[in-house]
Amino acid sequence: MTKPRILMCPPDHYGIEYEINAWMSRQRQAVHARAVEQWNRLREILAAAGAEIRELQPVPGLPDLVFTANAALIYRQQAVLAHFRHEVRQREVPYDRAWLEQQGFAVETPPGDSCFEGAGDALFCGDTLFAGYRLRSDARGHQQIGQRLGVRVIPLELVDPYYYHLDTCFCPLARGLAIYYPAAFDDYGRRALGELIETLVPVGEAEARSFACNAVVVERTVVTNTGCPDLHRELQRLGFAAIATPLDEFVKSGGSAKCLTLRLDGEEAAGWKFRETD
Ligand code: ARG
Repeated sequence: MTKPRILMCPPDHYGIEYEINAWMSRQRQAVHARAVEQWNRLREILAAAGAEIRELQPVPGLPDLVFTANAALIYRQQAVLAHFRHEVRQREVPYDRAWLEQQGFAVETPPGDSCFEGAGDALFCGDTLFAGYRLRSDARGHQQIGQRLGVRVIPLELVDPYYYHLDTCFCPLARGLAIYYPAAFDDYGRRALGELIETLVPVGEAEARSFACNAVVVERTVVTNTGCPDLHRELQRLGFAAIATPLDEFVKSGGSAKCLTLRLDGEEAAGWKFRETD
């Protein structure tokens, strides 16, 4: 068995240099030393959980490059690069592309001029790709990406600006099992999730605000920011080891554990991951 592989980018140049989501304010700067400490601790926890951590080299002037979840959507050996909504993040793409190509991925760009923010907005649960749209990614692009990859896409409209990427309010844990924050979706979205995922673990408002849904899953270990005790109890009941680690310096930018990672070999919940090794 090969180790789970995760891409991370050290926070050398991380900071709140612009405001492109509801969490960010230039008045509330990240404390660099704390951000470094929090990032290192997350890295250690993931490595201890059994992941092999690969690193993307930080680049001056790209404060959000740390959020590698947005670099691309990974599907087997294919990587669909992001086309960011905001120009300040579009500058990250050449670095993501170079790294992914160098690792041997077949790198593609999203269709036409549609915005697409990688694994931040597109997550597999079983054989279905759940895809968040409106605030960052476009619904039409998601459908076309699904056609290209040959997978079913369920578009989910994100209705609350604090939950602007799907990975801030939804996290597949295994086939048929996911965490979600119901108020981030409209009725259609909640219904679609309920019909397609057998067990949905709802998160309350306070814990959702602590980025409870922005979890990293490595086999049976789930890692989140601190401040999500109810979710952690529920995860333990479901047989997961739940680990909390402070990530408030990244919450200032609208990100947390999951956003700081990109799973390169498919998350545990992805149906295609299992089929390959069955
Ligand atoms: N400041 C970044 C942005 O607004 C945070 C990205 C968080 N990433 C994520 N996958 N949710 O784009």
